Amino acid sequence: TISAKVDALISKMTLDEKVGQLNQLNGDWEATGPVTKDVGNKLDDVKKGKVGSVLNIMGTNHTRAFQEAAMQSRLKIPLLFGQDVIHGYSITFPIPLAEAASWDMAAMERSARIAATEAAAAGIHWTFAPMVDIARDPRWGRVMEGAGEDTYLGSMIAKARVKGFQGKGLGNIDAVMACVKHFAAYGAAIGGRDYNSVDMSRRTLWETYLPPFKAALDAGAATFMNSFNDLNGTPATGSSYLQRDILKGKWGFKGFVVSDWNSVGEMIPHGFVKDNYEAAEVAIKAGNDMDMESRAYIGNLAKVVKDGRINIAVVNEAVRRILTKKFEMGLFDDPYKFINPAREKAAMNRPENIEAARDMGRKSIVLLKNEKNILPLSKSIKSIALIGPLSKEKWYLKGAWSTDVDPNDNVVTIYDGIQKQAPGAKIYYAEGCKIKDSVATDFKDAVDAANKADVVVMAVGEDIFMTGEARSKANIHIPGVQEELIKAVVTTGKPVVVLLMAGRPMVFNWTADHAPAIVYTWWLGSQMGNSVADVLFGNYNPAGKLPITFPRSEGQIPIYYNSLNTGRPAQGDNDTFYRSSYIDLPNTPQYAFGYGLSYTTFSYSNISISKTNIKKTESLTVSFDLQNTGKIAGEETAQLYIRDMVAQPLRPVKELKDFKKVMLAPGETKRITFTINKEKLQFYNDNLQLITQPGEFKLMIGAASNNIKLEKTFQLTN
Ligand code: IFM
Repeated sequence: TISAKVDALISKMTLDEKVGQLNQLNGDWEATGPVTKDVGNKLDDVKKGKVGSVLNIMGTNHTRAFQEAAMQSRLKIPLLFGQDVIHGYSITFPIPLAEAASWDMAAMERSARIAATEAAAAGIHWTFAPMVDIARDPRWGRVMEGAGEDTYLGSMIAKARVKGFQGKGLGNIDAVMACVKHFAAYGAAIGGRDYNSVDMSRRTLWETYLPPFKAALDAGAATFMNSFNDLNGTPATGSSYLQRDILKGKWGFKGFVVSDWNSVGEMIPHGFVKDNYEAAEVAIKAGNDMDMESRAYIGNLAKVVKDGRINIAVVNEAVRRILTKKFEMGLFDDPYKFINPAREKAAMNRPENIEAARDMGRKSIVLLKNEKNILPLSKSIKSIALIGPLSKEKWYLKGAWSTDVDPNDNVVTIYDGIQKQAPGAKIYYAEGCKIKDSVATDFKDAVDAANKADVVVMAVGEDIFMTGEARSKANIHIPGVQEELIKAVVTTGKPVVVLLMAGRPMVFNWTADHAPAIVYTWWLGSQMGNSVADVLFGNYNPAGKLPITFPRSEGQIPIYYNSLNTGRPAQGDNDTFYRSSYIDLPNTPQYAFGYGLSYTTFSYSNISISKTNIKKTESLTVSFDLQNTGKIAGEETAQLYIRDMVAQPLRPVKELKDFKKVMLAPGETKRITFTINKEKLQFYNDNLQLITQPGEFKLMIGAASNNIKLEKTFQLTN
């Protein structure tokens, strides 16, 4: 058995070799943090058995050199190669937040599967994904990397992504290990400032932030990464509560935990330990198995053991977890298993996978506004003005955290995407301004272009450096003077479609109020131009729904749909008299969680409930008719929200508990059924026990968290 093989190997290892297995080095690719200076000769370190894993080396030629070095070490223990394969490898898929807007689990699983297939063929064993941090603060730059604000949706997506990356399971030639990150609560950094402290009740931690991790674990995730932040005063990397009590204890996780980049060493500036010696001791005791790039373990752990500060059994346990994964991956049978240049070449950029990226792109797009049905555009339109600094952009369309192994030339621009689908149309292009221009002009070129054309499409938003790690922003308005540009163009009176591109929700009140059509495109990757054009010209009927609330102002943040009611809730936007509200801004967001339009319309009717009284061991069903009331086929994501009307502790005004994405032909009606059982009704009390409480529950079914169409109530008895 693998366990016997691991034990046999451990019995042969010296203490230094054991510590070597816990050491992860940065390879030769761009680093995502300060690089340790005294790197020495990495290949020599590998030959000496001082390295267990290398990150940031891509391609079979690079990984081969390192694996050959590992095969020259005394015990020939293969290296694990890790990489941030976050949204595609060679083909770049939409950023994770964009994909989350599809609410399509099969599609997201497929994206991850394709990314894994390409990455595995390039020699990579392990991706540092999925990122499952719940994020309720769009100022946080890493909001682009997760599934948004909701625990239920986020948990479903976490599962789908793990399944996608790990495919048919470790040991298969195209399965890469998932790494669920960042454990835990990183997304709740105070003020949305990256790496900042997190201060939250344990109840909120368990109820809102931990479930996606648990879902990923249940889906078989091989590894976890801890996080940079401190949680209630303890850096996550040094937290026994998170790693030992919860993850490895209560949840029974059998894989291993890797630190984040230098997060072991960063316990020193946190003020948690005084030096790397203490950092190593605290981290391993707390359950951090592998040290990414801080070199605290390789420099100190052997001494920590020799000094009697920790028992060798603690080191053995960490080594065992890592070696087990290397065996499960089949690397002891063939360390070069993933290193086959012919396979690498054949796996990249396959046409069917490019098509899948295009499909994922259009599924991720959210139609925010479409006055007078400006969209879809006719393909026989005579002229289009294409205005904005992102119209001809390539690289930015990939979004942060793309691997960039594929040249940007393979990215389809908005300009090219449009031109291909409307070959007969004359395109009047004007850049209008640069993304970061801070002084508005008369935008003459843009206005002239608009005046010449039948319709205007504007491509505006962020650049690639504005979201991602260490890209938090205090101001999330459309950058620079781009909204001034939109004003100048909309004022021409021409029909204007604004494409908004970003890795986060932006603030754009004037545009929301005045632009006739708004399409939120996020960053969609290599195929972005085609995906966007598919939506613009109606080859695809948009169906995305926002996975995160769009505020009207940074001042509303944090803002999320599943808040508590308070004792003085505002009834509507003007109800401010001694209410929980702002006197200068409504409480409602610009666009709510779950919101998104289609080119067709849907009606919700005939709700029925199977029982109006259930015991907690029983379940009930709620059913309704969903009809496509428009003239073209389309998909709707019907959402089920629940409210526990009276509870101690308090329950939110709404909680997403289920959803169904349904394709309907024009006029077609389908009856949709949701099942409600104990899992959907229970919650944590102050002692962190999952409980249900008898009383009234409200069921709400709708097209968005702020657009409830049908309601029913039922009673829960004990
Ligand atoms: O995986 C990442 C992590 O999310 C942030 N810091 C660096 C790691 C490795 O690149």
